[in-house]
Amino acid sequence: MKVLIIGSGGREHAITTCVAKSKRVSKIYAAPGNAGISELAECVDIPVMDFDKLVSFAKEKEIDFTIVGPDDPLVAGCVDAFEKEGLRVFGPRKDAAIIEGSKAFSKDLMKKYGIPTAEYENFDNAEDALAYLEHAAFPIVLKADGLALGKGVLICNNLEEAKAGVKEIMLDKHFGDAGNRMVIEEYMTGREVSVLAFCDGTTIKTMTSAQDHKRAKDGDQGLNTGGMGTFSPSPFYTEEIDAFCQKEIYQKTMAAMKAEGREFIGVLFTGLMITEKGTKVLEFNARFGDPEAQVVLPRMKNDIIDVMEACVDGKLDTIHLEFEDNAAVCVVLASDGYPVSYEKGFPVQGLDTFKDKDDYYVFHAGTKLQNGEVVTNGGRVLGVTAKGEDLIKARANAYEAVKWIDFENKYMRNDIGKAIDEQ
Ligand code: AMP
Ligand code: GLY
Repeated sequence: MKVLIIGSGGREHAITTCVAKSKRVSKIYAAPGNAGISELAECVDIPVMDFDKLVSFAKEKEIDFTIVGPDDPLVAGCVDAFEKEGLRVFGPRKDAAIIEGSKAFSKDLMKKYGIPTAEYENFDNAEDALAYLEHAAFPIVLKADGLALGKGVLICNNLEEAKAGVKEIMLDKHFGDAGNRMVIEEYMTGREVSVLAFCDGTTIKTMTSAQDHKRAKDGDQGLNTGGMGTFSPSPFYTEEIDAFCQKEIYQKTMAAMKAEGREFIGVLFTGLMITEKGTKVLEFNARFGDPEAQVVLPRMKNDIIDVMEACVDGKLDTIHLEFEDNAAVCVVLASDGYPVSYEKGFPVQGLDTFKDKDDYYVFHAGTKLQNGEVVTNGGRVLGVTAKGEDLIKARANAYEAVKWIDFENKYMRNDIGKAIDEQ
């Protein structure tokens, strides 16, 4: 079977690693892929948003199954473009990916179907938003409606900050058209957990839990980033909380999307906050998390193609999802200065050390091949993942493995998974 993977980040490298383990797969292509992915797949230089070229390529190469990784193409209808040509493809269609593409949509969905989330109001003009803020309690959370590279969320401590936030999102259009609408939401406190789930439109099966560290600096200081590291499972996501979420969140969301005529097929990512008043949804994404995928997928026992095909064929109920009874930690190696400004183009040393080591992975996020040599090519450069029999051991292994890699402006957080020591 020939598989095409669309995307070029650490998430897609983790997906490719899983697909490469499948006995059913004879050839993998990636568009556009990256230096790490190119060791497992033939990379073709087609941008993720060029659906015409992607579809033509899939037809020409007689691709049997395509997997769409990132949010942008999913929200813009990449899956629809493939299906229109009769091609088999894994991911939500445009009408379902809106659960990530519009925060106002997902909030209204949750309200309509009684899915627990923070109190909120949607706004489509700055005037009404500013009037609302005059009587609001602080801190308060402002969210640009559309996709904003994970940066469209502002936590405002007082009226002044909130007014500046409305200006930034709706008037100055800091996040472009994503700020045409806005959600203003109650501020919640608690432990965050990410739960990814395979969905076939009717059945939803959750994977093992994970937690992301979004801030750039140790101690959750500094700016928000795409994610500086993850660990899995989350010890805070207990069986009791899982039982609640299965019934009140995941099942209800699947049924709600179906009732709306927007069957969700693909991976649903639920960002949860475990608050004193119960577990609530922070956000939904229509894809694997990045870097959540880098700790969840290495622990999955199933053949990923079997599971994804079952989703596309509406047969997920026949699959028994299984994860290893261990733990994994992923430490992101970034370019110093990320997420603001940073230099790139530095040679990366030590990648070969990971070869033939079963429980260690180096996932490429921002790298490229230059004259046959791997060089840094982004803010987040690599995700170093290690497994261990428990989280403490996995963390020790991951921090040992990051020493094997060197490049000139290497930066990482030193406390990924540290919260687990509090247990
Ligand atoms: P989102 O993209 O909606 O997940 O938001 C990004 C991050 O902002 C989350 O991971 C939280 O850390 C924070 N956040 C979002 N919504 C809230 C909220 N209602 N209360 C507190 N923090 C929030
Ligand atoms: N790690 C968060 C995300 O993938 O959106």
